[in-house]
Amino acid sequence: MARELKIKIRIEVLESEKELTESEKRTWNKAKEATENAYAPYSNFLVGAALLLEDGTIHIGNNQENAAYPSGMCAERTALFGKSAIAPFMAIELIAVAARKAFTYKYLQGAPCGGCRQVMTEYEDRQGSPIKLLLQGEGTEIYRLSSVKDLLPLVFTKENLLGAQPKE
Ligand code: THU
Repeated sequence: MARELKIKIRIEVLESEKELTESEKRTWNKAKEATENAYAPYSNFLVGAALLLEDGTIHIGNNQENAAYPSGMCAERTALFGKSAIAPFMAIELIAVAARKAFTYKYLQGAPCGGCRQVMTEYEDRQGSPIKLLLQGEGTEIYRLSSVKDLLPLVFTKENLLGAQPKE
């Protein structure tokens, strides 16, 4: 009989934004604000991401679409790549992601795409400390995760890559 591998992930479900800490609230608001400059004329799906850095500053990003669809970029990666280009060694404490349809202000339940989860993992590994996440949950709920690992079980990392190199 095949052995079953059960993997646990942990998500804290907050009833509403009221339960966020001061710095979490600040980051969450910046993620919502960042949806304003999303460029999403094809999907009308506006996404904002905000990174709270260890020095207390917040770096934002939003999705940037393109007529050649695959050339566009998600909000999370826009934020992560931009931040890493200018402050590569500044640790990221928290990533907040907010999404809404254009012309509405109801934030939708959030789930970063697989590619963004992979990129978040790379930066979490690089800095050697966990990155917390805040996502819109159901209704007024907010989901709080204490590490990107809770978004991407069985992740592919540099250990997989380097372990696969032929021995000299
Ligand atoms: N999108 C993001 O920016 N982040 C996500 O986590 C999911 C999807 C963007 C990509 C595209 O511009 C639009 O949302 C629709 O997929």
